[in-house]
Amino acid sequence: MRMVDLIAKKRDGHEYTAEEIRFIVQGYTDGSIPDYQMSAWAMAVLFRGMTPFETGELTLAMAASGDQFDLSSIPGVKVDKHSTGGVGDKTTLVVAPLVASAGIPVAKMSGRGLGHSGGTIDKLESIAGFQVERNREQFLQQVRDIGLAVVGQTGNLTPADKKLYALRDVTATVEAVPLIASSIMSKKIASGADAIVLDVKVGKGAFMKNVEEAEVLAEAMVSIGRQVGRQTVAVLSDMNQPLGFAVGNALEVKEAIETLRGHGPEDLTELALTIGARMLVLGGLFADDTAAREHLKERIASGQAVEKLREMIQAQGGDARVVDDLDLLPAARIQHGIKAKRAGFITKIDAEKIGHASVELGAGRMTKDAPIDLAVGIVLRKKIGDRVDRDETLAVVHANDEHMLASAQKEIESAFEISTENPDKKSLIYKII
Ligand code: URA
Repeated sequence: MRMVDLIAKKRDGHEYTAEEIRFIVQGYTDGSIPDYQMSAWAMAVLFRGMTPFETGELTLAMAASGDQFDLSSIPGVKVDKHSTGGVGDKTTLVVAPLVASAGIPVAKMSGRGLGHSGGTIDKLESIAGFQVERNREQFLQQVRDIGLAVVGQTGNLTPADKKLYALRDVTATVEAVPLIASSIMSKKIASGADAIVLDVKVGKGAFMKNVEEAEVLAEAMVSIGRQVGRQTVAVLSDMNQPLGFAVGNALEVKEAIETLRGHGPEDLTELALTIGARMLVLGGLFADDTAAREHLKERIASGQAVEKLREMIQAQGGDARVVDDLDLLPAARIQHGIKAKRAGFITKIDAEKIGHASVELGAGRMTKDAPIDLAVGIVLRKKIGDRVDRDETLAVVHANDEHMLASAQKEIESAFEISTENPDKKSLIYKII
């Protein structure tokens, strides 16, 4: 087999065999296929697309390119959850302990922030002492012991995806749906999930800007799941405004703890219950979402959900007193209110701009390995549809540096739109596939 012939085959719109796909993935991983050929290939895929069969085979080949986690020593159906990335998206911090408190084991590998969207692993590190690095045995043992672990990606997971993702990033081929779908699903499959709930974000602050695009991606991922024997459900949820009120690592941990205590923002609570209920159904605990939801609400009300978080923090070496005393989280030196310039209704809070502002404050990375400031961020006081008076506070900026505050402030001000017309209320959940 020659790579040049395989590039031509896709360029001319033909379907690959499984063997040809394995040849491409193995060759790229071991270095025998160079970047320039793989770039041409990725562009051919972007233009020509891939059939569901090809996408499934690509996913399996990428999942098999490195370590594969075997979770079979943990009893029960292991259900994973994945978000395509958003602003203020602390759903995993709520859903993982919530679902685990209901008896479904959660063995989760999460990522760090990427661009303007935050990452669960960075957020967890705002808890003093919390260890995100666990070896395979520690990780599995913790899930066997307490039913819950959230760690950074360990080992050599999907090296083919790591290489291809970096290449796509600089060859304008990130947007190819089969490549996004196989990238996400290969990581979930390699990390050993039996069933997967995907939170596909839609809107200004997300990869997929409208429901139609998000549906195409969701259907591609659900189809891969079907093909490889992992039950997969995709929830399409809104990312036109940040989720909840808090954006920034420690600020989001605080909001997640409040949500687990039953005092969280309405949208975050609703999304966590929707995703969590599906996880309980896929895990075989309930036949339908309604009963599963009621069970989860009861876990929150009884305090068992937040207790599960406390157990996880303790097991991973963190200061679990934070669950009762949110003041133990890192706090920024400056708190500055952003005021409304006119009275009216909030019609827009551009999630992407809020995400950028939080990176400017230091909550995200400007370069790959830059350190981040866990304390800084933004706490919204208003959401879309709320009424404001002139000079009322729209958001509070938490900063540690005056210059960073000044540039973030401009970005935050421009993220808000205020009108005399009350906007139509947008759905939080667009669709479940
Ligand atoms: N997230 C991923 O993991 N991969 C993609 O290609 C896009 C988003």
